[in-house]
Amino acid sequence: MINFDKGESLWNKANSFIPGGNMLLSKNNNLFSPDFWPAYYSRAKGPYVWDLDGNKYLDFSSNGVGACSLGHANENVDKAAIEAINNGVMSTLNTPNEVHLAEYLVSIHPWSSMARFARSGGEANAVAIRIARCFTGREKIAICGYHGWHDWYLAANLSSKDNLKDHLLKGLGSKGVPDSLANTIIPLRYNNFDDLELLKNSKDIAAVKMEVVRSNPPKNGYLELIKDICNEKKILLIFDECTSGFRENFGGIHLKFKIEPDMCMLGKALGNGYAISAVLGKEDIMLSACDTFISSTFWTEAVGPAAALATLEEMKDIKSWKILPKIGSQIKKIWSNYSKKYNLPIIVNGIDALPTFIFNCYESNGFKTVFTQSMLKEGFLATTLFYPTVKHEDIHIKKYDQACDKTFKILSNIFNTQRSPSLFCKGNYCKPSFKRLN
Ligand SMILES: Cc1ncc(COP(=O)(O)O)c(C=O)c1O
Repeated sequence: MINFDKGESLWNKANSFIPGGNMLLSKNNNLFSPDFWPAYYSRAKGPYVWDLDGNKYLDFSSNGVGACSLGHANENVDKAAIEAINNGVMSTLNTPNEVHLAEYLVSIHPWSSMARFARSGGEANAVAIRIARCFTGREKIAICGYHGWHDWYLAANLSSKDNLKDHLLKGLGSKGVPDSLANTIIPLRYNNFDDLELLKNSKDIAAVKMEVVRSNPPKNGYLELIKDICNEKKILLIFDECTSGFRENFGGIHLKFKIEPDMCMLGKALGNGYAISAVLGKEDIMLSACDTFISSTFWTEAVGPAAALATLEEMKDIKSWKILPKIGSQIKKIWSNYSKKYNLPIIVNGIDALPTFIFNCYESNGFKTVFTQSMLKEGFLATTLFYPTVKHEDIHIKKYDQACDKTFKILSNIFNTQRSPSLFCKGNYCKPSFKRLN
């Protein structure tokens, strides 16, 4: 029997065996409290997560990086996944659920007519880019937001390593991405009308790939103008809804803004934690997938589509998209109230279903780390973002409110005496996170 390490010691060991420690930046200890974040879970259920030492936390952070909008381990979704497992996850033939899922997603996005599936958001984005380049015969892509780790996207940083600083992180390295991809990606700053001149004057852009909403809502006419320019220049408009989908309405949030894209990507909440992502698009565009090679063994496994169909049913039954923004706006109010009460400057951002805040002061990462450490002590996994789930009930929110009261008070004592949070912080400060989540 292997004697496995627990919590912090396992995280230290991980860094010897796994470069970077884990597979996803957003779950890396360095983004929270590098030396004191519990790192691993033994169980997750509803709004709760248990660490390897048996500590039970209320998850008031990302809840599976936005994937588990129905709460961790939703019974109906798990039931569908287990049924798919019992019937054989993989076979020589295809799973019929991929057709059912394509038909379902197309029906709630009436501008679309076909779908392809992958398992991660980054993959779905890469699929869409290949299709867009294939359909238009053009190579350049304008981007606005985060769209995964693949070469096509990171190529943005070849000409200057700060091209993605407004979208992702400052100084993100792109070593290993072929130099020949330099200048293929044009970053557009969100809500910046001047940047749209680049589109108006372009001849060789295949697609605008963008997140529909980010920290702030679109300015009046911003999305409409992009759509008009795309129409005029025959540029495809692709909405990356891997994170925004299903949180404020049933489907991509573009349905709420009434702007129709040519393609859109869905992921994360689509499978409530099971791996499934989708590319939806208009028929003539999607058929280009047959003129190139887009194919993968594990895009045919049966759990993802089964879980997605069950997730869609559950979302529709309880109208989860109405619940999430309500909870999110309560949390925004809690942050704002204690910021005012204790004279601690913060800026609250994000749509109600994806709220975030930043400490608007010196050593903001120090304040963020002390926030996380204090909330851990109170029994919460918490940082400066909160992706609500339908399982966050009033009783949990009340407890969170009380813990925030204590924590903001501690932080304000540091701030109002202009001391360094390092005096109150155990271990190192957290590292900067994605720009759009700060
Ligand atoms: C808008 C958006 N696109 C793409 C991705 C990448 O998805 P994944 O991490 O599943 O590859 C993310 C992940 O955070 C995202 O928010």
